[in-house]
Amino acid sequence: MADVITHDLVIFGAGLAGLRAAIEASRVSRGKIDIAIVSKNHLMRAHSVAAEGGTSACMRPEDGDSVELHAWDTIKGSDFLADQDAVELFVRTIPREIVQLDHWGIPWSRREDGRIAQRPFGGHSYPRAVLAQDKTGFFEMQTLYDTLLQYKSVRHYNEHFVTSILVENESFCGVTALNMSTGAFEVIRAKSMIIASGGAGTLFGFTTYSQTVTGDGMALAYRAGLPLEDMEFLQFHPTGLVPSGILMTEACRGEGGHLINSRGERFMHKYAPEKLELAPRDVISRSEMTEIEEGRGFTGPNGLDYIHLDLRHLGADRINAQLPLIREICIDYNDIDPINDPIPCRPVAHYSMGGIETDIHGATRIKGVWAAGEAGCVSVHGANRLGANSTAECLVWGGITGAQAAAYCSEIPAPAPVPEDRVEAEKKRIFDDLLARRGSENLYEIRRELRTCMDVSVGVFRNGSDLNEGLEKIKSLRKRYADINIGDPSTVYNTNLYHALETGNLLDLAEVLVTGALQRTESRGAHARRDYPERNDAEWLKHTLAFFSEEGPRLEYKPVTMTTWHPVERKY
Ligand code: FUM
Repeated sequence: MADVITHDLVIFGAGLAGLRAAIEASRVSRGKIDIAIVSKNHLMRAHSVAAEGGTSACMRPEDGDSVELHAWDTIKGSDFLADQDAVELFVRTIPREIVQLDHWGIPWSRREDGRIAQRPFGGHSYPRAVLAQDKTGFFEMQTLYDTLLQYKSVRHYNEHFVTSILVENESFCGVTALNMSTGAFEVIRAKSMIIASGGAGTLFGFTTYSQTVTGDGMALAYRAGLPLEDMEFLQFHPTGLVPSGILMTEACRGEGGHLINSRGERFMHKYAPEKLELAPRDVISRSEMTEIEEGRGFTGPNGLDYIHLDLRHLGADRINAQLPLIREICIDYNDIDPINDPIPCRPVAHYSMGGIETDIHGATRIKGVWAAGEAGCVSVHGANRLGANSTAECLVWGGITGAQAAAYCSEIPAPAPVPEDRVEAEKKRIFDDLLARRGSENLYEIRRELRTCMDVSVGVFRNGSDLNEGLEKIKSLRKRYADINIGDPSTVYNTNLYHALETGNLLDLAEVLVTGALQRTESRGAHARRDYPERNDAEWLKHTLAFFSEEGPRLEYKPVTMTTWHPVERKY
């Protein structure tokens, strides 16, 4: 048997949602809930630190903004697939989170009069993104981390790779994990769990995500029997730096940056005459790809043709004050200075709108398990997320799930017994099967081919034949994965083994994403099919649910929750 560690609550993932959940669970229980935060990275290396532009919230109702307007912008941005009750809860809660972070010491950027500053962001009809320069995620993480230090009941399990979720009689029992620094196989037994392990953007080769974001929580939940919702909706951010894919924040355009084609034209007036560069991301990404495909882009390396993001007219003072990280990245990675040079950009994989299906409070179908942040699908973003609504969602549902899980823990006398047969089977899978695999296939070649396949077949524009080809390719990669060679037989810091586990997770998620995309014969938000170019509310105003089966994902559908707002044509 494995080493068994016992806690009340396991939080899987140490980004914004996970840290916010830990604080809330500690706060409402006055430190009585014994919490484990489990992460394969060191805590401040969570990908949330890379969030740049802002966190949206209605902070100025006296000045023309309102929670209703934030809700409407979010729902219209979602192409009407968001659940409206969840959106209402979201917009009502986030202003309190902003003030709470202020009280915890975050250095929000300020206006001249000392009040919290806000900047314009795409698809929002009011300058609603609260910011800390262009390092908002970093400062939010730092503030949550500092705040969490006051609670002694939180233990950090850094460098622990979670391999499975243990469930018995539809109730949570614990997780299995590899202690990466000792090689030990451990069971963390607990009464409840919050999955806050982020998205799956490294399914794609050209991506803003750090290489650690491999959809682990989503894949483990899927294998544990939870449905994944709306996974076909993958957001492309309009401004990924070519060739690295590093995020050039939407704040560049919020501060007044322009998008320019190879003829020197600002082209967005053709596609979104009112909002121009501040239209939602799906609209701008399609516009950029149209410019590139029609020959008005610049030729880039490895097929990464691009357009220009031009900040030069903003001037050095504004760029240095509001976009210092962007300038630093451009100088370090591309040897260009945005004060003098335009920035080469193109659409880049950035965010999973889909995730683990939850109810409005982040609860899943497994008793004792919640999901929050990008790993979950509550669903606030529907078919297309608005910029600055992601960090906001992490804070809101981090808080909600933390409180819910703490209340649940205080009602349950002890964690459920661990199913020993399941633990033994998992140990065997890791050590006797995966680690011992000495096949003829190169794991890294499979991972590279998967990412190329996703870039090519499941991009900004999609069609049935590309999706079919993509699905066939993923199935063939799955077969080849069974015959990989894990070169390194050791158990301590065996990166080959972790990469194999991650690639297994990505393969499952790729299959879910492409299967859902193939079935959805319409265009909605980020899912733009050339063979079905219209939104089809009569047949497709519904959420996709993908359930695991040995033969591949089994799809079901469920209705969208509509409260107040009716679908209209989406124009910007
Ligand atoms: O462009 C950005 O700063 C990204 C923000 C977001 O994804 O919400």
